[in-house]
Amino acid sequence: MKDNIILIGFMGCGKSSVGIRLSYQLRRTMIDTDKWIEQRQKKTISQIFQESGEEAFRQMETECLKELIRTADRQIISVGGGLPMREENHELLKELGRVFYLKVTPETVYERVKNDTTRPLLQVEDPMERIRTLMEKRAPVYEACADVILEASDLTLEEITEKIERNGK
Ligand code: S3P
Repeated sequence: MKDNIILIGFMGCGKSSVGIRLSYQLRRTMIDTDKWIEQRQKKTISQIFQESGEEAFRQMETECLKELIRTADRQIISVGGGLPMREENHELLKELGRVFYLKVTPETVYERVKNDTTRPLLQVEDPMERIRTLMEKRAPVYEACADVILEASDLTLEEITEKIERNGK
């Protein structure tokens, strides 16, 4: 297993903000799988969903993990909210490093993403309902994938990063 710190969790759970802060404090580079894919494809996530569909995007996520296994070590890796849902990705995540799940409530997610237009899965009439349904399906999978589960809704950014630095304790 490689020595990367991997952040998983639902859209809006804070993976990016936590990752950036950890990267600064631990002096490790941060990689975001969404950004990695956008750079490779020279398209935004919304464009990829629109032009090629969700399944094509999921395939790109798996390819991204495979490449990171070859190239990334001692880095912070924040992964898209849907990535752990592909069974094939579980082994890849384990191989890539220690997996931290940032667990938040649907209400926290809604507050953070309600004005966001960059997440195709939430561009629906009733985003709160979509968040609840998706989260219900995903939460058990996130938990199964995680080495450490952090209840993050009531913690500050500082508290979360501190816990991760102490390896989840
Ligand atoms: C998705 C989450 C997004 C992005 C895409 C799909 C999902 O990443 O990969 O819009 O299925 O939950 P974030 O979790 O970084 O928002």
